[in-house]
Amino acid sequence: MFEQNLLNTFNKLETPFYYYDLNLLKNTLNQIIKAAPTKYKIHYALKANNNKTILSTIKETGFGADCVSGNEIKRAIEVGFKTQDIVFAGVGKSDKEINFALDNNIFCFNVESIHELQVINELASIKNKIACIALRINPNVDAFTHKYITTGLEENKFGINPYELDAFLEEIKKYKNIDLIGLHFHIGSQIEDLNPFKNLCLRVNEINKWFISKGYLLPHINLGGGLGINYQEPDKEAIVDFKAYFDVFQNYLELLPLQQIHFELGRCIVAQCGSLISRVLYIKNGTNTNFAILDAGMTELIRPALYQAYHKIENLTAISLERKQQSIYDIVGPICESSDCFGKAVIFPETFRGDIIAIRSAGAYGKVMSNRYNLRDEIKELTA
Ligand code: LLP
Repeated sequence: MFEQNLLNTFNKLETPFYYYDLNLLKNTLNQIIKAAPTKYKIHYALKANNNKTILSTIKETGFGADCVSGNEIKRAIEVGFKTQDIVFAGVGKSDKEINFALDNNIFCFNVESIHELQVINELASIKNKIACIALRINPNVDAFTHKYITTGLEENKFGINPYELDAFLEEIKKYKNIDLIGLHFHIGSQIEDLNPFKNLCLRVNEINKWFISKGYLLPHINLGGGLGINYQEPDKEAIVDFKAYFDVFQNYLELLPLQQIHFELGRCIVAQCGSLISRVLYIKNGTNTNFAILDAGMTELIRPALYQAYHKIENLTAISLERKQQSIYDIVGPICESSDCFGKAVIFPETFRGDIIAIRSAGAYGKVMSNRYNLRDEIKELTA
C-alpha cells in the first residue's frame, strides 16, 4: 500500500500527521458515480472529514454537502459547494446557525422536533423568507452497530417518532414561513450488513404512503448515510461495494417517479484514503507484553478510546526492511489515560525507536475528532 518513496517522505517529516491519498479518494468517488443511478443525489457528510483539499475533490464530482453546524456550512461555501446543494441537519441548531443558513438560502433544514420547527419559522419570518424543511423521522430500524453510533431507534435523541407525525402536520399548517419538501432518515453509522438498509426502505415505503394519504407528496426523500467500511483489511477492500449498496434501494424503495432520492455518505467516501502517521518514541518491556509508545495518541485519533474501534496498525519501516522477527506489543500513545491505546497484544514485527507507524482507515472521524488535551500540537495533514 505505501510505496518506498512515500516512506522516504514520511521519514523526513515531523510526526504525527494525517496522510490522505487523493488518488484513492478520486477512485472511490468514481466508483460511487458509476454505481449510483443518476437520479440519486449524494450529499457528502462534512462531519467525517472537512479538510479543504478533500472537500474540493468531492465538490468536483458534483456532490452536495451535508452539514451539522454553521461552521460546516461556512466551510462548504468557502470551498465552492453551491448553497442550493447544502442540507443542514442536527438535533440542536442554534439561532445563530439557523440565521446563517437562512441568509445563505441553503437547500433544506432537516428538522428534528416541533420546537425546532417553531424557531425556524419565527427566524425565517423575521427575514421574510421561506425555509425549506425535511422532517427527520425515526424509522425504528436497528442498525446493529456500536451503541454510540446507532441513531434510528425510538430511544435515541434523534428524529421524530412516527406517532408524533399527526401533531407535526397540524403544526406545520400554522407556519407561513416553512415549506415541507421532504423526509429524512438516518439509522446509524459503520453499518456493514446491508439488511438494515433493506429494513429502512420498507419503513420508508410505509411512511411515504402515509404522507401521500394525508395529501403530502413530498419531492425529496433523504436516506442518510451509514455505509460501513472494512477496518480489518483496508487494502483488500479499499473501496466499498457501492453497487450492492445502491441495489438495495433500487430493489426495495417504492417511491413515485417525481420523488428524488438523497443520500448523506461520509465514512465510506473518506475513511480508507487516510492514515495517521506516527513514530515510535520508546519501547518498554512489560510483564506479559511489550509497549510500543507512539508520538500519536487518543488526542489525534480518539476512535479506539471512545468506541473500542479497531484500526489496522502497520510498521512501515519494518515492512520496508523486511524484518521477519515478530513479537507481541501493546501499541499505545503518550497521553496520561489508560484508554490511550491503539491496539492490545498485537502481533507485530520487531519494533524500534524511530520506526514509522501507519494507523489505517483513519480518513473519517479522525482529524475532525482530534483535540488538544494536554495542550498537544494541532495535528497536521498531508495530501498527496
Ligand atoms: N447523516 C446523518 C444525519 C448523520 O448523523 C451521519 C453520521 C451521517 C449522515 C454520515 O454517516 P456515515 O456515512 O459517515 O456513517 N464518530 C463516529 C461516527 C458518528 C457518525 C455520526 N453521524 C465514528 O467515529 O465512528
